[in-house]
Parts: sequence; structure tokens; C-alpha cells
Amino acid sequence: MSEVSLVVNGRRVGGVVEDRTLLVQFLREHVGLTGTHVGCDTSQCGACVVHVDGKAVKSCTMLAAQASGSTVVTIEGLANGADLHPVQAAFKEHHGLQCGFCTPGMIMSATDMINRHPEGLDEATVRAELEGNICRCTGYHNIVKAILAASKTRSKSKGKVASKAKKAA
Ligand code: FES
Ligand code: FES
Repeated sequence: MSEVSLVVNGRRVGGVVEDRTLLVQFLREHVGLTGTHVGCDTSQCGACVVHVDGKAVKSCTMLAAQASGSTVVTIEGLANGADLHPVQAAFKEHHGLQCGFCTPGMIMSATDMINRHPEGLDEATVRAELEGNICRCTGYHNIVKAILAASKTRSKSKGKVASKAKKAA
């Protein structure tokens, strides 16, 4: 068994878990944050992407014990109350989702991508960087449009598309 303690969306959480507990299981089953999805459990689909210490991570590839001591942001940590995060708003505006299963991971990957490219993004870069996120519904076109739009907003504002949780931390 492992004792874990981490900050999730600005709140300290912890507990004793089996050593084999994945970070995604910990978030969903122990913390109750079910917005992070499990699509494959084998590091292929990207539905489970969260931010660990500011970087996008597939949370099915990391043990909860490995994440102990880290700061984690999940999809639930992005919006500020009723105000959608700019990347969420762009997905809504550009119809970047259909069933929504891949969407939390897409948005967490997109947010990280935009933050790593403060100079802005082009379509080829967005498509290459989305390699690790699979969508069965959209054909990707509107997802790419949404990410490009959010990237432009960020470039104009010259600020990081920070999450509520990061602001609070
Ligand atoms: S559930 Fe983690 S990559 Fe698919
Ligand atoms: S919107 Fe359905 S899997 Fe992407």
C-alpha cells in the first residue's frame, strides 16, 4: 500500500491506496473527479490527459504514488465557476465535440499545447501534437479549428491560458 498526498484543482487530497493504483483511478474513484475518462488504459487514446505540475500527462500511464507531492489539474479545474476556460469556450463555439468522450483529454492536451507555443500555432503543428488524442466522432477538423482559435486568443492576450486551479495555487 502507498500513502499519497497531492493537490488536485487547488485542493489537497490524499489517502492510502494499493501500489498498483493508477493516477486516473485515484482521480476518478478516490477523489470522485470522473471528468477524466478511460478510453483504452494502454496509453493510446488520450482521454485520460490531466496536467501534472503544469505538463500534460496521460494519467493511465502514471501510478498515483508517482504523482504524490505533485499539483494536478483535471478538466474540472479549468472553468471559473460558470465561466468556461478559453479553450473550453473555443471547443463550444467551434463545435469541437460530438459525444464528448475524448473532450476532457483533448482540452487538457490543447491547453498544454497552447501554453507551450506562446508564439501561436499553425494547423500542421496542432495536427501533429494531437497524435496522442483519439476522437471517434469529429473527424478532428473542428477540434483543430477550436485549438487554433483559442491559440489566437491567447496570443492576443499575451497571457497563459491559466486554469482556475493554477491561479489559486
Ligand atoms: S485511457 Fe489513458 S491513454 Fe487511453
Ligand atoms: S467527440 Fe466523441 S470521441 Fe471525440
